[in-house]
Amino acid sequence: MQLSFDSRPAAQIETPALVTYVFEKDNRIEGALAALDQTMGGRLKRLADSGEMTGKILETTLVHDPPGLAGTRLLLVGAGKPEKFDGIIFRRVAGLALRSLRTKSITRMTFLLREGERNFAGAEAAVEGLLLASFDSDFYKTEKKNNKVMESAALAGAEGASIEEIEKGMGRGRVIGEAQNFTRTLVNEPSNVLTPRILADRAEAMARECGLGVDILDEKRAAELKMGALLSVAQGSIEPPRVIVVTYTPAQPKAGAPVLGLVGKAVTFDTGGISIKPSEGMDKMKYDMAGGAAMLGAMKALSALKPAIKVIAVVPATENMPGGKAQKPGDVQFAMSGKSIEVLNTDAEGRLILADGITYAKKLGCTHLVDAATLTGAITVALANVSAGAFTNNHEFEDRLLASARRAGEKMWPMPLDDEFRDLIKSTIADIQNISSGRGGGASIGAAFLREFTDDTPWVHLDIAGTAWLDDQKPWAAKGPTGMPVRTLVDLAMNM
Ligand code: BES
Ligand code: ZN
Ligand code: ZN
Repeated sequence: MQLSFDSRPAAQIETPALVTYVFEKDNRIEGALAALDQTMGGRLKRLADSGEMTGKILETTLVHDPPGLAGTRLLLVGAGKPEKFDGIIFRRVAGLALRSLRTKSITRMTFLLREGERNFAGAEAAVEGLLLASFDSDFYKTEKKNNKVMESAALAGAEGASIEEIEKGMGRGRVIGEAQNFTRTLVNEPSNVLTPRILADRAEAMARECGLGVDILDEKRAAELKMGALLSVAQGSIEPPRVIVVTYTPAQPKAGAPVLGLVGKAVTFDTGGISIKPSEGMDKMKYDMAGGAAMLGAMKALSALKPAIKVIAVVPATENMPGGKAQKPGDVQFAMSGKSIEVLNTDAEGRLILADGITYAKKLGCTHLVDAATLTGAITVALANVSAGAFTNNHEFEDRLLASARRAGEKMWPMPLDDEFRDLIKSTIADIQNISSGRGGGASIGAAFLREFTDDTPWVHLDIAGTAWLDDQKPWAAKGPTGMPVRTLVDLAMNM
């Protein structure tokens, strides 16, 4: 999709579709919209007065041959109540516009920025919303009948803002939106295509293209490093595991500066292992590498945005299969940190591979850690598919990350990680066990297990099991991978 900025006044722009948004309030026709309405001889005011255009969230009103405008159509998208308007809603508005125009075979559009998005990076968010909306999950359809592509999208408007600032924002939006779609592309791949080795190949190709450092550890090197927790999961599969390490180093590294570690779970398929999952819905478990894919997407964006600090992604990648050599419930494994683990459930495998990922990230010098993982079904019991859960051993660091999430427009909610959870993962035979000896709090138990490997390093764990995948399509997004939390991680690295 071609992106550009059109500095002409909205009325003069020849475009198949001029798009903007309208709030749900009595004087809906205000600001830039009022100016447009004047040119249109009060058409918008009449649409509002008639009750046809209410401004309700995601309502669409399409005006053909708008009088006085050079554009062929004017599409107005409802933005809801102005006091609730934020970057999340704004991205959805832009995304919905793209997807609804596309179904009408309209392949060029111009999105008119107004005053409502002044409180956040409007140009950046608009571009992100458009790029995310242009993603589709139908990779392997041999005939793509109904899928017209939006060939070009321009932004316009935002009187008073400098064109330079807008173009900078658009550039950032493009980098971040494309990185998020890179993540979604990886997550959408079926597990027969995307094995741990292929994921490593794709990561390596991306890193080389982007000028990032890359090191792929194979199963031999993982064994030399004594990554017993990762290898215990991998042993049930004939596909060997990989540990993908991608590094961004700033041009002028400062001594004593923080080093951010991004550890992502990449189970390219989770059958549950010997503690096998029920077959219903098991196909979705190809998405169990979404955390790892998000880290790779974040690195891709950071290679272009160039943060001041060093950032290292560590992505342990494996299948979780019930092969003849698979580990069995009750087996005891030694993690790279030296801790012994009683594996009471082979389906709680994400925490095992992350344990070694976290230890390795610390060994590489990371001073701050964020992990992202489709770790537990329990997180959706607490937060449904609305927010990712955030767990931490350091609330100051968590607050910074949550501030990044708000700026980036990705929903996250802080979850408890009391010391008491430690008691629930004490094992009889080993140091710790990988599931709770009690009931409930499953997402916190998973986090408590990971905490055992962080020691004093400030760390936030993001459980994205409920938010990495859309089970149904939305007006602004395709069904399938969401690419969260790429934007938050990018914002965090840029602001550390
Ligand atoms: N990959 C799953 C998490 C998951 C489960 C995501 C269901 C989406 C839907 C993870 O490896 C897992 O199986 N977790 C178990 C942990 C349990 C055995 C303690 C779970 O959540 O059921
Ligand atoms: Zn599992
Ligand atoms: Zn899993």
